[in-house]
Amino acid sequence: MTAATWWKTATIYQIYPRSFQDSDGDGVGDLAGVRARLDHLVDLGVDALWLSPIFVSPMRDFGYDIADYTAIDQVFGTMEDFDALIAEVHRRGLKMILDLVPNHTSDEHAWFRDSRAGRDSPKRDWYIWRDPAPDGGPPNNWQSEFGGSAWAFDEATGQYYYHAFLASQPDLNWRNPAVREAVTDVMRFWLDKGVDGFRIDVLWHLMKDQSFRDNPENPRWRNGDAPTDRLIKLYTTDLPEMEEVVRLLRQTVEPYGDRVLIGEIYLPTERLVRYYGADDDGVHLPFNFALIDAPWDARHIDQMIHDYERALPEGGWPNWVTGNHDKPRLATRVGLAQARVAAVLLLTLRGTPTLYYGEEIGMEHAVFDDATALDPFARQVPGFGLGRDGARTPMQWRPGPNAGFSDGTPWLPVSRTDEAATVEGQRDDPASMLSLYRRLLALRRTRAAFTEGVYQGLAAEGDLLLYLREAGAERFLVALNLGSTPISVRLTGPAAAGEVVISARPGREGERVGGELHLDGDNALVIALDPT
Ligand code: NOJ
Ligand code: MG
Repeated sequence: MTAATWWKTATIYQIYPRSFQDSDGDGVGDLAGVRARLDHLVDLGVDALWLSPIFVSPMRDFGYDIADYTAIDQVFGTMEDFDALIAEVHRRGLKMILDLVPNHTSDEHAWFRDSRAGRDSPKRDWYIWRDPAPDGGPPNNWQSEFGGSAWAFDEATGQYYYHAFLASQPDLNWRNPAVREAVTDVMRFWLDKGVDGFRIDVLWHLMKDQSFRDNPENPRWRNGDAPTDRLIKLYTTDLPEMEEVVRLLRQTVEPYGDRVLIGEIYLPTERLVRYYGADDDGVHLPFNFALIDAPWDARHIDQMIHDYERALPEGGWPNWVTGNHDKPRLATRVGLAQARVAAVLLLTLRGTPTLYYGEEIGMEHAVFDDATALDPFARQVPGFGLGRDGARTPMQWRPGPNAGFSDGTPWLPVSRTDEAATVEGQRDDPASMLSLYRRLLALRRTRAAFTEGVYQGLAAEGDLLLYLREAGAERFLVALNLGSTPISVRLTGPAAAGEVVISARPGREGERVGGELHLDGDNALVIALDPT
């Protein structure tokens, strides 16, 4: 592989800037804070950081509602802070990925202020405006992802505008060439500043049906299911026209060389992989959330890996994600013991891994009451466990007040401040979650089998997941026990014997194994196989 494909061998680390490190005592993480914590990323062994939005925003959706795409929100710092951060990131040999939110802006963006000012405003058509239905109600049945109708009525001009998320997040009209020009200008602004790529927010949402047909009812929806799943988003997401929009985004970064586009796309595998483009002209990495959404079951995951590998188009590079700021935290989803197994899985599968800040110390999902949550999703669709505050609590750096996150009052309470739950408390403990992540990432960096190597699934039963990774003479067997009871498996053929190089649970590294392999409950082993 050439240097032009850094993102194929890289591990990406997502930082939620509000929650990483506060440098000025206002209780909100900031860019100077991220800069002060870059040692941690280097020490951990990741290669790129992705920052959730840092741009000017009224923060109704904590930065995913942007009022100015090319300025830093003052809560995070200044453009000077950004320049200092990216310089330091690059000085350390790391890459910087920003969050691009092209689907919608804040209602406080100058574009939307102009658009709503009057029916004849120059930017009226930059957003999606429709007349009321004959009864005065919304133009059709489209629903917001955050609950209720996706149409908001504007009294002054007598029309509705479409918002896939909050009413304060009006959707841009991607059929309008001026919008395409404006957003690709934003991309060029940051590319010129040296950013190494973008994670593209809700990419599959960008185009909407031109004739505004009603979305069909979801036949699988049952009373008691989240109301936001009642309709199939047939006419509001994943339209055929997405192909040309994705191509445009790709063409925008192409002249800059070595940059990566990562699409946030929640779709079944066969539709997801279309975003690679028909001719490698799509996004480089359509985020693969299968590990987040999958039940923690070895047979299911085995099949899912197999299906994903098979669905990848020629030249399509795989990727895996274990968590993000929208989903329940990994250690809570699968349990702390299995979170170690998940770490081994994420970092030994074929493709680019993305991990979410705090996973490396086993941070758990914090419990918040929907009614008083800060997350608007929790408040608008209460009672379905959809709240996201629990995944966004501040990073736990060291034992003591606020776990070292802030000298002020953190915007969300710090979950744990005891030594065992912090980076400092885990760093020198070889048995800690952090040490496991560091060993796995070190192994990935030095062994081509894990980055460039082939993946070969091996037959297994019950809670066992078994596969080979190999490149040239370098061969590894990965054996994961997704259950809590011990497993015995007979190793045969070319995978018959070797040495344990990683053990998810402490104690087995350096052990020789061969013949009958005993795998303790909640453990995963990476075994360097003997040369054949
Ligand atoms: C996806 C983001 O990850 C999420 O946090 C946000 O609320 C929505 N897109 C809307 O931008
Ligand atoms: Mg701050």
